[in-house]
Amino acid sequence: MMFDSLVIQSPKRTPQAQRGWNGFFPYYAGYPESFARALLESANLSKGSVILDPWNGSGTTTFSASQLGFASKGFDLNPTMIIVARARLLPPSEADSLEPLGRETVKGIRADQRILQPDDPLLWWFEPATAALIRALERRIRSQLVGERTSTPDGVRLDHISGLAATFYVALFSVCREMSTPFRSSNPTWLRKPKANEALIAADREAILSAFTANVKNMAEALAERAEEPQKDHAIAELQLADTTSTKLPKGSIDMVLTSPPYCTRIDYSAATRIELAVMHPLVDVKMEDLGRQMIGSTRVPDHEIEVDAAWGSTCGQFIANLKAHPSKASAGYYYKTHLDYFEKMALSLAHLARGLKPAGTAVLVVQDSYYKDVHNDLPSITTEMAAAAGLRLRRRVDFEFKRSMAGINPHTRTYKRAAGAVEAVLCFEKCQEAIQQ
Ligand SMILES: C[S@@+](CC[C@H](N)C(=O)[O-])C[C@H]1O[C@@H](n2cnc3c(N)ncnc32)[C@H](O)[C@@H]1O
Repeated sequence: MMFDSLVIQSPKRTPQAQRGWNGFFPYYAGYPESFARALLESANLSKGSVILDPWNGSGTTTFSASQLGFASKGFDLNPTMIIVARARLLPPSEADSLEPLGRETVKGIRADQRILQPDDPLLWWFEPATAALIRALERRIRSQLVGERTSTPDGVRLDHISGLAATFYVALFSVCREMSTPFRSSNPTWLRKPKANEALIAADREAILSAFTANVKNMAEALAERAEEPQKDHAIAELQLADTTSTKLPKGSIDMVLTSPPYCTRIDYSAATRIELAVMHPLVDVKMEDLGRQMIGSTRVPDHEIEVDAAWGSTCGQFIANLKAHPSKASAGYYYKTHLDYFEKMALSLAHLARGLKPAGTAVLVVQDSYYKDVHNDLPSITTEMAAAAGLRLRRRVDFEFKRSMAGINPHTRTYKRAAGAVEAVLCFEKCQEAIQQ
């Protein structure tokens, strides 16, 4: 790999990048499609190369790889993201089926409250009649488009869900996200449950069905527009519900990793998709508690004791020591433990990734720095040192500076002194010889 010739654009997402087909996947993403595309195009990969995004989120990497005709794999722990990333891969050739199928989906849909289980999580936000209508739509999508390869007697295999089924789920997710805006806080990723005295969301049949139909129509149009783009041969993208801390990749099976790891800024990636998980509940019954705990960047205290590991590197060691010694409340307790959990999970994941890479394979990680109170969390340097311990040598680093956008999430942290700009680093690694011999 010629690291100098990699084309590294700014990984910052712009409203421009969220137009058209990509605009239907408004989930917390690491970087725009143009960034992933430029990188992959310039990486001089051979035709049969396999690209992996172990934290695939809304699937920017798998989408870009497939656009360029490369096989790809995407992992995510959150079932919502598997559906979203699969929908995004729908080929433009399917655009013309969407509207006719959408009309079939809404035909005769009624809000029959008898189909609602008393523990249906839609009831957290929606009035029973509204929840029943959403559930009826979801049931219709499931019965029309989800077959036995996905819904197996041994459980659900989300890796088999079809692009059409996923697209209709995304159209329904977006109806529910739209309706739930009163329960979204200023932090765009957070959706709260209504308080006891708050009215639940109510919408009539006509409003819900027409919002769904409009989404399907808009998606069909945006997808059809993409038919104008040059299309490469069909490339297979495997999307798998997987936990990177424990998933063993076949040794040397991956040519290139392109990803943005979960942030270390208390973004609860599972809470961000609560409404989608509620919609999918009969398909995949996820325990929010379990998912929240498993996530890298979890806001929950881990259920086992974690010791600082010297292999995490000196920058990490120093950061953790500073955090623990911080005089503010819970620094030495809750925050210390959740940060240890983050670093332990990242170290485990990086070891698996390094093992899965081919000899001299490339890994590009987009990593942002942050602050804990006034303690700088130099995550790009920490990641570089951790990756070195896993056998990945840094070959190139490009920093992009921008205004720190996530600083306002926790109002209690605003009074601390911090650098105004955040650094988003694009870290390019090569699997080194010592690691190959192991
Ligand atoms: C920063 S996002 C990735 C964004 C992605 N590159 C994109 O463009 O949309 C991090 C993702 O990691 C996932 N994640 C967190 N912990 C994980 C774990 N242990 N295993 C697999 N995925 C995990 C989250 O669900 C989230 O979707």
